[in-house]
Amino acid sequence: MTLTIGIDIGGTKVAGGVVDGSGVVLASTLRSTPASDPAAIRDVVADVVTELRAKHEVTAVGIGAAGWIDSDRSTVQFAPNLAWRDEPLRDALTERLDLPVVVENDANVAAWAEFQFGAAREAASAILFTVGTGIGGGIIWNGHLVRGSHGVAAEFGHGLAVPGGRECGCGRHGCLEQYASGNALVRYARETAAADRDAAEFMLKATGGDVEAIDGPLVTQAAEAGEPAAVAAFVEIGGYLGEAMADMAQFLDPDVIIVGGGVIKAGELLLAPTRERFTAALGARAQLPTAVITAAQMGRQAGIIGAADLARH
Ligand code: BGC
Ligand code: NA
Ligand code: ZN
Repeated sequence: MTLTIGIDIGGTKVAGGVVDGSGVVLASTLRSTPASDPAAIRDVVADVVTELRAKHEVTAVGIGAAGWIDSDRSTVQFAPNLAWRDEPLRDALTERLDLPVVVENDANVAAWAEFQFGAAREAASAILFTVGTGIGGGIIWNGHLVRGSHGVAAEFGHGLAVPGGRECGCGRHGCLEQYASGNALVRYARETAAADRDAAEFMLKATGGDVEAIDGPLVTQAAEAGEPAAVAAFVEIGGYLGEAMADMAQFLDPDVIIVGGGVIKAGELLLAPTRERFTAALGARAQLPTAVITAAQMGRQAGIIGAADLARH
């Protein structure tokens, strides 16, 4: 069976794996993302491919990148949370690795993985929101990945959540990503902890009282333990996500809306407030059949698997 490599370049981590045609990861490896240095990112990707290739014969490399990819899937035109500006990732890596390389948006590849092997396997139409450092989106429609006329469809993180709100890495003010991402989750938890230390006892105990040391995994752990500040942070991001998903249901009417990305590790702590707001925001529309909101099934390796599978097709 032919094998391909999938690489997921996110705002904080570069993950790579060797994947077979059934979406099984045979080997994988992880590095941190040198987010401010495009040349260093290329070095990390080349290094990951070299490591994986040493033990497996592969025919192509698929890359899921956290940025705005052009329509011929070669260049990262812009990235709100990384230093890429017109980065010719495909050609630079093809030359260096001497393998065919396909570049696709990180959330698009995750959506593709869920459609091929995960939560959207049975769906004709699916929408994915990835909630991590940023917020990504993917649309699968009638079995196809929707890329848009210019390659950059489904940028749900840069839809409007708060008119005139916080400035985003994309230049707009009030993007969903500023209010419902993993970074926003941490910001809410820190704000509450600073204002009301009793509501954040668990988290502050873990950080030795340092509010700024609260991070995403700790907020999830604290919410699981019932810590008020942490639970409230999930309710806050879930509210914004539910509103945005109601827009999607109104615009596109998909079968399923999948929530992926690092933050979905919190499961129902995130999904319950998201569904509640989704239903409330739909008003009369909620009385008719509508999309089911569900957790992604592919876990941390969604990006690797989806990118590898796209490289194969
Ligand atoms: C970017 C998307 C990316 C998402 C998740 C957003 O800020 O605009 O292209 O998919 O972050 O990484
Ligand atoms: Na996308
Ligand atoms: Zn934005």
